Parts: sequence; C-alpha cells; structure tokens
Amino acid sequence: MARLPLPNLLPYATELAGAALRRADAALFPRFHLRQRINGRTVLITGASTGIGEVLAYRLAQAGAQVLLTARSTEKLEQVAARIEQQGGRVTIYPCDIANPEDCDRMAAEVLAEHPRIDVLVNNAGRSIRRPVLRSLNRFHDFERTMQLNYFGAIRLTMALLPRLIDQGGAHVINISTLGMQTIPARFAAYLASKGALEMWTQAAANELGHKRIRFSLVNFPLVRTPMIAPTEIYRYTPAISPEQAVDQICRAIITRQKRVASPLAYVALGAHMFLPTLSEALVNLGYQLTPESAAARGKTLPAPQEQHPDNVRPLRRRRQR
Ligand SMILES: NC(=O)c1ccc[n+]([C@@H]2O[C@H](COP(=O)([O-])OP(=O)(O)OC[C@H]3O[C@@H](n4cnc5c(N)ncnc54)[C@H](OP(=O)(O)O)[C@@H]3O)[C@@H](O)[C@H]2O)c1
Repeated sequence: MARLPLPNLLPYATELAGAALRRADAALFPRFHLRQRINGRTVLITGASTGIGEVLAYRLAQAGAQVLLTARSTEKLEQVAARIEQQGGRVTIYPCDIANPEDCDRMAAEVLAEHPRIDVLVNNAGRSIRRPVLRSLNRFHDFERTMQLNYFGAIRLTMALLPRLIDQGGAHVINISTLGMQTIPARFAAYLASKGALEMWTQAAANELGHKRIRFSLVNFPLVRTPMIAPTEIYRYTPAISPEQAVDQICRAIITRQKRVASPLAYVALGAHMFLPTLSEALVNLGYQLTPESAAARGKTLPAPQEQHPDNVRPLRRRRQR
C-alpha cells in the first residue's frame, strides 16, 4: 500500500497563533496595520471601476499596494487609474468581461505574464437582480447571468491564478458576498443562489488549500449605497452603509485574514433561520407581501437619482474618523 505523505499542519498553527493579534491590529490602528500588511504587495481587484471596488482601489493604493484593476469599462478604469497615479500610487488596468470565460482566461494570463506574484485577490465584481420568482418564470437568463459573473467568473479567475499563488508560497483570496446569505430576503433568488454557490466553493476550497497557505475570506455586506442599488427605488429610503464603510470591512479581512467578516445581525439572522425556521420565513414573507415591486422588476426604468446620497437617506452608522 502506498504511504501517505505526512500532513503539514504548520501553516494552520502559525495562522492560529497570530489570529488574536491580527484582530487587535484591525480594531486598534487599522490604517497603520493595513499599510504594514499591504505596502509593496500586489492586489488584484475585480469590479474596480465603480462602487466598492473603486473605493477599495484608492484605499489600497494609498496604503502602498500595487493595484491591478479589472472591470468591463476601459474608460472608467482609466479614470480610476489616473486618480491613483495623481496621488503617487502604482496601478495597472485590465479591462475584461469576467462573465465571458475566454475573456476571463485572457485577462488572467496577462496578469500572470506581467506580475511575478499576486498577494491578494479580491473577487468583488458582481451583479444583483431583485425580482421575485413568479416574475422570473420567463427570465431564466436572470439566473444564468448572476451565476456567470458572481460564481463562475469569480472561481474561474481564482483557479486560473491558483497554481501561481501556491508556487509563490501563499496568497489571500477575498470573496465578496452579501448579508442576504444569512437574512435570505425575498426577491433575490437568482442573486442569492449565485452568492451561495460562491460561498460554498470558497469554504470547500479553503478546506483543501489551507496547508498550502492559500487563505480565503468571505465578506457579507449589508446594503451599500453604490450604483448597484440605484435602480431599486425603495433603497433610496432604506438605511445603507457607504462604500467607504464597506471598504473598511474588506480591509479588516486583509488585516485579520478571518474566515468571514459579517455584522452581528448576520449571526442573529442565521440563528433565527436555523432554530426558528417557520417563524423567520413567515416574517420575511410578511415583508415581501407588504413591500412594492421595484420599477425594474415591473419592467420599467427609473429616472437617475439627482445625487447619490439624497438628504432623506440616513446612513446606518456614521463613518468613524481615524
Ligand atoms: N451594493 C450593495 O448593496 C451590495 C450588498 C452586498 C454585496 N454587494 C456585493 O459587493 C460587490 C460590489 O458591488 P457594488 O455595489 O460596488 O456594485 P457596482 O457599483 O455595481 O460595481 C460593480 C463592479 O463590477 C464590475 N462588473 C460588472 N459586471 C462585470 C463583468 N461582467 N466583468 C467584469 N466586471 C464587471 C462593474 O464594472 P463594469 O460595469 O465596468 O464592468 C463595477 O466595477 C458585488 O459583488 C456585490 O454583489 C453589494
């Protein structure tokens, strides 16, 4: 019988040994420790032309990282890159449609050819669809499109880079998810299924790759005021965090390398769905019946909001000054 190789538990031992310290770092002086963690490192950010990815690109470039940015829009990526360069940052853009498998492979090959190592990959590009199942019966493409970007795109890129990430001695992959994974709001079947697939892949891959020093983190955002939620009228009046606050959470993941960054609400909702499943379903269903369909779900387009943060929108929490 062939002898099994000796298991390597050292990476887990060192990771666990530093865990408490890294959490203290993230809580006490996050900007300082972000710089310590990321200065001189190479970070690939998908979906970096707008919203959370754009703000993350500025934050990490300011902290000294070389940022590699990808999204479909070349023009917007160039604008983001110009701003980073004006501030003295190092940036390269890789326009790409990550939902297109061939284009995704091309971009990954270019990144690998031009950079000897990638220290952090943030799979942030995503699309959300808010539409109830009964309005999706003739819209199977909603399910295909969300899977194509949020799941297949993210894992295709990660797997294209994986051999290099292992050869270079390790890396950190941060996959962006949603608080909806725990709260399971109505009208998001297509979106949640794609993020659920991403979460399960992430956890399964982490179980296999931890000893190769490939760390995975999941970040579960609540509502964030970005272009993604603009088409949904009701969200103009719903509490949401700012993109800067969302980026704070990704930076926390970078500093701590914890498995999941999520608010306490995530754990309360998860507990409710596990231990009081019928009651929590009834509450979500009640909310579903009492809230109107968005114009997009009814097949209409809304006029663009006058400004991104109208006065009547109260942020969930004020951004802490550091
Ligand atoms: N906003 C929220 O309330 C919220 C809540 C929970 C989780 N999230 C998650 O947070 C992440 C970022 O969301 P966001 O709110 O910042 O969204 P956003 O403002 O709509 O930005 C999405 C980014 O993804 C890029 N993108 C879209 N389709 C792409 C494709 N096929 N290939 C490559 N890039 C593509 C977009 O650029 P191009 O259009 O130029 O390609 C853009 O840079 C997503 O994964 C989202 O699911 C958001």
